[in-house]
Amino acid sequence: MTRIPLIAGNWKMYKTGTQAVAAAKQLADLSKGAQGVDIMIAPTALSLPLVAAALGKNSQVRLGAQNIYPGKEGAFTGEVSGEMIRDAGADYVIIGHSERRQYFGETDESVGLKIRAALDAELTPVMCIGETESQREADKTFFVLDKQISDGLKGFDLEELDSLILAYEPVWAIGTGKTAGPEQVKEVHGFLRHLLKEKYADELAAKIRILYGGSVKPGNIKDLMQLEDVDGALVGGASLNPEDFNKIIRF
Ligand code: PGA
Repeated sequence: MTRIPLIAGNWKMYKTGTQAVAAAKQLADLSKGAQGVDIMIAPTALSLPLVAAALGKNSQVRLGAQNIYPGKEGAFTGEVSGEMIRDAGADYVIIGHSERRQYFGETDESVGLKIRAALDAELTPVMCIGETESQREADKTFFVLDKQISDGLKGFDLEELDSLILAYEPVWAIGTGKTAGPEQVKEVHGFLRHLLKEKYADELAAKIRILYGGSVKPGNIKDLMQLEDVDGALVGGASLNPEDFNKIIRF
């Protein structure tokens, strides 16, 4: 099965609406004609409708949200629902990013609820998992990843996970300039593919795209993408600059 790579940019809490529109337009121009790759950017929720309008419905550059509230509507001050995200023009939503786990108390359980909310709103969930530096040093990487997947995806059946995208982001490599080495990435992605096979089915495991994230740059994307089980990248810092991000898209 061929998996079309996805290059996704997480803009985090950077760029005003005006800046986001300008950067998205520049990216759309630069990346025009890129083939065999899906492209997504995730600006702040506030910028989603502005960027969606600027890009137009048929743009190859698709949009994602950085978070979602697991509930349809209600008295949840400050939160944004899946339906609102979809209505704003996004197709994807990043769920369980390590910054959300670290600073906003997200757990594997809340990640599961958010994946459910994303699927209900027909959004493609990009589920982030990854070990911290101390977990890796304690040889707990595989244990941690297994638990994040088992607990985060508890209760979902095969068909529901059809559109799921996984992003392996070792926490120690995010925003630090330290990328996991090719051997480490290969080992973990192979492990994740195997885990999906064991827990679900060969067909689903072969279908799910597993992205790598953590200090992905124009200079290291090519080596990462050559690895068998790497189906794209989730890019933070280097996605903020349209020229750099375009270089990554054209790995
Ligand atoms: P980084 O961030 O590329 O700046 O390391 C990756 C991420 O947080 O998804």
